[in-house]
Amino acid sequence: MLEVFIGFTMDNPTMLASGILGVSGYTMRRVAKSGAGAIVTKSVGIQEREGNPGPVVLEEEFGLINSIGLSNPGYRKFLDEIRIAREGGKPIVVSLFGSSPEEFSEMINYLEGEADGFELNLSCPHVKGLGMEVSSDLELSEEIMGEARKNTRKPIFLKLGIKNYLELGKIAEEKKLDGVVAINTLPALRIDLEFKCPSLGGVRGGLSGPCLKPVALRCVYDLYSELDIKVIGVGGITSGEDALEFIMAGASAVQIGTGILYKGLEIFKEVENYLREYLRKEKCALEDLVGIANVG
Ligand SMILES: Cc1cc2nc3c(=O)[nH]c(=O)nc-3n(C[C@H](O)[C@H](O)[C@H](O)COP(=O)(O)O)c2cc1C
Repeated sequence: MLEVFIGFTMDNPTMLASGILGVSGYTMRRVAKSGAGAIVTKSVGIQEREGNPGPVVLEEEFGLINSIGLSNPGYRKFLDEIRIAREGGKPIVVSLFGSSPEEFSEMINYLEGEADGFELNLSCPHVKGLGMEVSSDLELSEEIMGEARKNTRKPIFLKLGIKNYLELGKIAEEKKLDGVVAINTLPALRIDLEFKCPSLGGVRGGLSGPCLKPVALRCVYDLYSELDIKVIGVGGITSGEDALEFIMAGASAVQIGTGILYKGLEIFKEVENYLREYLRKEKCALEDLVGIANVG
């Protein structure tokens, strides 16, 4: 009853968001076994990256600010982790970052056999020359999406930030991507008063968690009204009610990241059980609810 199709089938509409517990194959396998409908890996790139100096995460009243800096082992070494994650029996979406169409094609070609889909991270807000800085250039983004599409028939999703999200969403649709994911963290920063300097080692960070929810909902709502491809919602989901809000705004599936810190891995089952009970009471199917509150 909760099954959804977004290019592959998931037994329920919850997904692990990229970057949270998505580095180790064993941890991803555990998340899959805890009930997530699909797993999105940490974003990987061409080269191994150490990431930013600490502190890399600050806890705020209504969320987190992180400045991890896209640390990852590089796509070749990551293949083993994906293989282990697959043992969890859930679709694995590999999140990729890069700065040129060639880099994305190289990674997709290498990982294609083990991935159930790809998420193109053109939205990380705190790393120079990557993520949001790449998608500020709409022509380059278009080329990246076009090349990615040429290199795989597996589902491809574009991970959006707040910047140019509608323009980029429209390009994703034109380039025949399967869907868009909204949204990545918002640009953020804190100042350490004692040391008179930025609090994060990497200076600039990204804001996640409950404070992001209304912003993410607005993006999902707008994207659903404008596009005919799938919209996946992410940002501040910590309960079944939150997930349902995203679905009613237009999301076919939802991703959960920071919510895991508040509720543990049980959050996936909590959201699934809430939705199951809601559908039973309302005597409807999940797809009847997607975008039901979207009045354009
Ligand atoms: C510690 C941390 C690391 C993240 N790393 C990535 C990443 O590698 N790639 C990516 O696309 N998004 C990354 N994100 C963004 C999340 O996938 C998600 O879009 C965002 O946190 C909003 O969802 P949430 O409020 O449920 O966490 C990261 C978020 C956090 C908190």
